Amino acid sequence: MDEAKLRDIPLFAKLSRKQRKLVALRADEVDVPPGELVCRKGESANELYVIEQGTAKVVRDDQYLDELGPGDFFGEMGLFDRAPRNANVIATTPMTLMVLDGPALRQLEREQPELASLIRATIEHRRHWLEPAL
Ligand code: CMP
Repeated sequence: MDEAKLRDIPLFAKLSRKQRKLVALRADEVDVPPGELVCRKGESANELYVIEQGTAKVVRDDQYLDELGPGDFFGEMGLFDRAPRNANVIATTPMTLMVLDGPALRQLEREQPELASLIRATIEHRRHWLEPAL
């Protein structure tokens, strides 16, 4: 995918152009229709998604957790923790997603530890919401 698209995404904003190019090289792009269940609670986690366009809701059992939009990412918890998905993520509009798989993410983690730290900070924040349910 095109490196320029990553400039507007906060997760990648502080990277150099060269670093963004590396991320772009390792990423795929996918279009998703509204209503699609992108992550299903309990399933194994193989990808992390970054929202380029569109919105999604995060639902755990019957509990609405969050609404995600352009620049947000999801699917990081299962992938980083090597754990099953802990919530459903459902597209609420047509979406364009950037997709990073496990090997791509682990390679980026080695090359760009600051990126991994940012993702881990978000995991900690989101985990606070989950703790009462665990
Ligand atoms: P994962 O567990 O892999 O799959 C479901 C995703 O929903 C999870 O990763 C997070 O990306 C996202 N998620 C879980 N809990 C929250 C929350 N409280 N707020 C926002 N996103 C969440």
